[in-house]
Amino acid sequence: MNLRELNSLIKVAMGEEKADLVLQNGSLVNVYTGEILEEHSVAVKGERIAWVGKDDRNVTGPETNVIDCTGKFIIPGFIDGHTHLILFYQADQFLRYAMRGGTTTIITELMEISFPLGYQGILEYLESLKNQPIKIFGVAPPMVTNSLRTRSRAINLDQIAELLKRDDILGLGETYWSAVIERDEKILEFFVETFKAGKIIAGHTAGARGNRLTAYAAGGVRSCHEPITAADVLERLRLGLYVLIREGGIRKELAEISKIKDLQLDLRQLILSTDSITPEQVVEEGYMEAVVQKAVDLGFDPVCAIQMATLNVAKYWNLDHLIGGIAPSKYADIIILPDLYNIKAEYVISNGKVLSKEGKLLLEPSKYTFPAWAHKSMRLTKNFGPEDFEINVKSNSDPVRIRVIEQITELVTKETILEVPVLEGKIKVDLDKDLIKIAAVDFLDDQLKMFVGLIKGFRMKKGAFASSMAWDLTNIVVIGADEKDMAVAVNRVLELQGGIVVCSNGKILAELPMSIGGYMSNLPIEEIVQNLKDIQKEASGLGIPFPDAELSLNTLTTSAIPFFRICEEGFYDLKNNRLVGLLV
Ligand SMILES: [Fe+2]
Repeated sequence: MNLRELNSLIKVAMGEEKADLVLQNGSLVNVYTGEILEEHSVAVKGERIAWVGKDDRNVTGPETNVIDCTGKFIIPGFIDGHTHLILFYQADQFLRYAMRGGTTTIITELMEISFPLGYQGILEYLESLKNQPIKIFGVAPPMVTNSLRTRSRAINLDQIAELLKRDDILGLGETYWSAVIERDEKILEFFVETFKAGKIIAGHTAGARGNRLTAYAAGGVRSCHEPITAADVLERLRLGLYVLIREGGIRKELAEISKIKDLQLDLRQLILSTDSITPEQVVEEGYMEAVVQKAVDLGFDPVCAIQMATLNVAKYWNLDHLIGGIAPSKYADIIILPDLYNIKAEYVISNGKVLSKEGKLLLEPSKYTFPAWAHKSMRLTKNFGPEDFEINVKSNSDPVRIRVIEQITELVTKETILEVPVLEGKIKVDLDKDLIKIAAVDFLDDQLKMFVGLIKGFRMKKGAFASSMAWDLTNIVVIGADEKDMAVAVNRVLELQGGIVVCSNGKILAELPMSIGGYMSNLPIEEIVQNLKDIQKEASGLGIPFPDAELSLNTLTTSAIPFFRICEEGFYDLKNNRLVGLLV
């Protein structure tokens, strides 16, 4: 804010200048006190709130735009405090649907772009978030990964320090807890750099409890978004952490965690967030307004639900002097709601401007064109054949004992040891035993590095399923009942410069091109939704039983979800934090 704007705000509040916009005579939800203040008006000058009170005659002039809020509620704009925006769509496509429901600030992770496109990719993506009608901040990615090759390409301390200097970077992104309690030196240096910059570290404590959780908190993380029960939440709140309840595309924890409201606790450090949201969800269900609605439906007091999506989030990110509530000097990020139990915005105001009215966007997000190099991350030029997915065994013994990935749920996996026959020196798929092939292929350079193994639980009877969106590294992950189809699918992903492909009998059945880092598509979000529906339908047709087949495939490489994963160097045993091979 400059001197002229500051003067202007004070003058409006003093009645010496008139407001640009007045929201008149509504029921104001005061998130600072938890009150609902009847017959209140809000005066906006430029991007900020100048005055809040009962009699607006002093601040309203002939030029002032007045919105009558009689019988309606005036609440702060919603903030998603933790999400992964880099997910299929480009930011402008997401915002077309996300903004109309009342979300006025988003804080996103950036790791997905940093793996394939590095530091330059992060800077490029941050450019695409600028000049949007709502505020979007990022966090510097610590880039925890199972792959040593990916780790060697990760951004360095100087680059983290540069990112932390930026106003649009609020801190360090989610750092999986094992890297901290094992005192990974590089990660701890990132932490110290973040403390020096006076910024925030986002935590990630899946499965941590007791002393290990306390040790992680001692590392200085400020939050966790992994709890799945009310008891988990309580343990973390008691350690002073902010806890983000996830209700998004990957996990939905709100129903279970809502039991916390019966414990009569102070919930000021409890937050609602999405931790990512699928294209289908944002188009068909909405964004943060749907999460707040669910909290209200589950019995949270509406004022408490609103606080969990506004002030509590702003405090977590040290932004509460700017956003999170309706008070003088704060940004005018405001929703007008006809009914406090039905979270359907009549108006959304962002930075003092009317962003949407009755669900219709009045301000368009700005489109960004990524440079040509960002569309060329598949540097591997190999043309794959079925022989690339054979498993040749030199062992003389038959059968041999091997490790396989076994799906426990659609996302959780475990290591299973099996005895399998060796036929003509090879280990083959066994569809009767639900044993199919899995391979991880590094796409980022032209030196072939890949690993082939077996996986149980996907129930594929034919075909192959490949994706460049494998989490936390730069791999194409492919599963298949047939090596020829595995080759077709991987070749097609390379040809598309990234994407998801389902094929069978040499024919492509469905695909989604994602040429920006192999992670983001150039397509409009409606087309992305349709392509993903087609992929799900065809993947189900191959036998895959999981409700979100691409997610089950793409998470086969992450250390964020237990217990047994794959990368281009082998299997990764998360329990013992080590790479292991196929043979036991
Ligand atoms: Fe996350």
